[in-house]
Parts: sequence; C-alpha cells; structure tokens
Amino acid sequence: MRNLNAETITDAVLERQKNTPSPRLKVIMTSLVQHLHDFAREVKLTEAEWTQGIEFLTRVGHITDDKRQEFILLSDVLGLSMLTVAMNNDKPAQCTEATVFGPFHVDGAPHFELGADISCGARGIPCVVRGTVRGLNGEPIAGASLDVWQSDEDGLYDVQHPDGEARARGILHSDAEGRYDFKSILAVPYAIPHDGPVGDLLKAMGRHPWRPAHLHFMVQAPGYQTLVTHVFRSDDPYLDSDAVFGVRQSLIADWKRQDDGSYVVEYDFVLNPAPDSQ
Ligand code: BEZ
Ligand code: FE
Repeated sequence: MRNLNAETITDAVLERQKNTPSPRLKVIMTSLVQHLHDFAREVKLTEAEWTQGIEFLTRVGHITDDKRQEFILLSDVLGLSMLTVAMNNDKPAQCTEATVFGPFHVDGAPHFELGADISCGARGIPCVVRGTVRGLNGEPIAGASLDVWQSDEDGLYDVQHPDGEARARGILHSDAEGRYDFKSILAVPYAIPHDGPVGDLLKAMGRHPWRPAHLHFMVQAPGYQTLVTHVFRSDDPYLDSDAVFGVRQSLIADWKRQDDGSYVVEYDFVLNPAPDSQ
C-alpha cells in the first residue's frame, strides 16, 4: 500500500478499517470515508482550504463548553439536525410532528401546577398557553409531562443570562382530561448565537441567523413516544427562512391578541403510541 494517489487512497482506507468489530460503525465509517473523499475530489480541495476547514472546526471545539454547544449549532444550520429528526420520526399523519431540540433545554427544570406563571420574571408580553394532550384515537392523556422552554423578549434564554436563574421554562402535567395551561410570555423571533464560528460561516454564506418565534415542548407519557417539538407563531416573518430549518406547517398556531394587550395560544398535541405498547 504505497504510492497511493487521489483515486486509490479511498479503497486503501476502506481496506484498513474492514475489520471494524461493530457492524453499524463499519457501515457509518465506510460511507463517511467514501463521501468525504468524493467531496474533496469534487471540489478539488486545496491545502489552504483544508487548513481553513481544520481551523474552523478547531474554533467550533474551543468555543464549546457545558453552556454552549457550537457543534450542535453547526449541525442545525447545515440542516443535519432537522434531517435526522425527519428520518427518525416517521409516524401517523394525525400525530404532532417533531422538530429540532436546540441547545437550550435544561434537565431538571422547575415543576409548576397547571395555570402557573412559568415566566418567573422573564421580560415579555404576558401570554397564556393552553391545549390538550391526546392519543391517536382522541383519548385524553392524563398526567403527561410537558417540559416547556422559551426565550424572553430580548431573544435570550435564561441560560444565556449570567445569573443562571430558571425563567420561562418549567415542567407541568396534564389533568385528567388531558388538558394543560400555563402563563408565560409572548414568544418572539430571535437570532441563534452568531458571535462564534457558526455565525461567521452564516455571514460568509450570506445567511441570516434568525429563528421564527416559537415555544419549545417536550411531551412525555408512559406508553407513548416522547415528542420534542415547537409551536410557532403564524404571523412571524421568518417562518420560511428559519436558520435551522425546523418549521412545519402543522406546528404553526394563531397567537391571539387580547383587549388588554396580552396573548393566548391554544395547541393540542397528539402522541404516537410507543412501539412496544401496541
Ligand atoms: C432553539 O430553538 O432554541 C435553537 C435551535 C437550534 C439552534 C439554536 C437555537
Ligand atoms: Fe428556541
């Protein structure tokens, strides 16, 4: 295996990794090497461009810590996160669709009673959120856990504020009829973090960093598949140019302005039965 050239090197690498013990890892690494090499050949990658790519990935690594996940952000803006969601959430059309998880979920959010104000001082216009959680046959799902998180009116999540206080996030449980409701603040469009390498990449490609206004939900109940999704605002200017490609028509709702200036949005979730409970 000497004197490899731009054509023969791919087979040489595949031959070297042919004894990978895990069959799945073998499939993934074979395909990755083939596509990566084909990509380099197709664009005729120069050494300077290779160096630039390595420096970019190094910056992505350096800025990533337990509060900021620039690799997920990179996957998001390249559409890889949403592609993975789309491929892995095939379910009946009546079920609520899934979308990207994003980097701002926090395990162990505070618990609230139904009707509570989960904003906890986050800045924004008051908004009531309500709806139901049901199964495919319309059966109400009692006790479903709804883990909710959203940004404030400045477009920042609580974890992006220095004080670390939980705001505009929380966990609630649906009642015996599958209903849920809580008070929070109006969701607004916001820019994903773009002061790092991913932001530089977006700029270099002439792309904006904006996401349409949304609420995040993770809905879980025994016997049903976990649903990770958003509810979007129908009047948002970025619905067709979401920086992370997460918008689905079925997740768009009308957020109704009330006489006192507050808002109300209603959204009903339909969960898919878990495969082993059918
Ligand atoms: C979010 O909606 O929280 C989000 C999703 C992807 C990238 C950045 C933020
Ligand atoms: Fe978000």
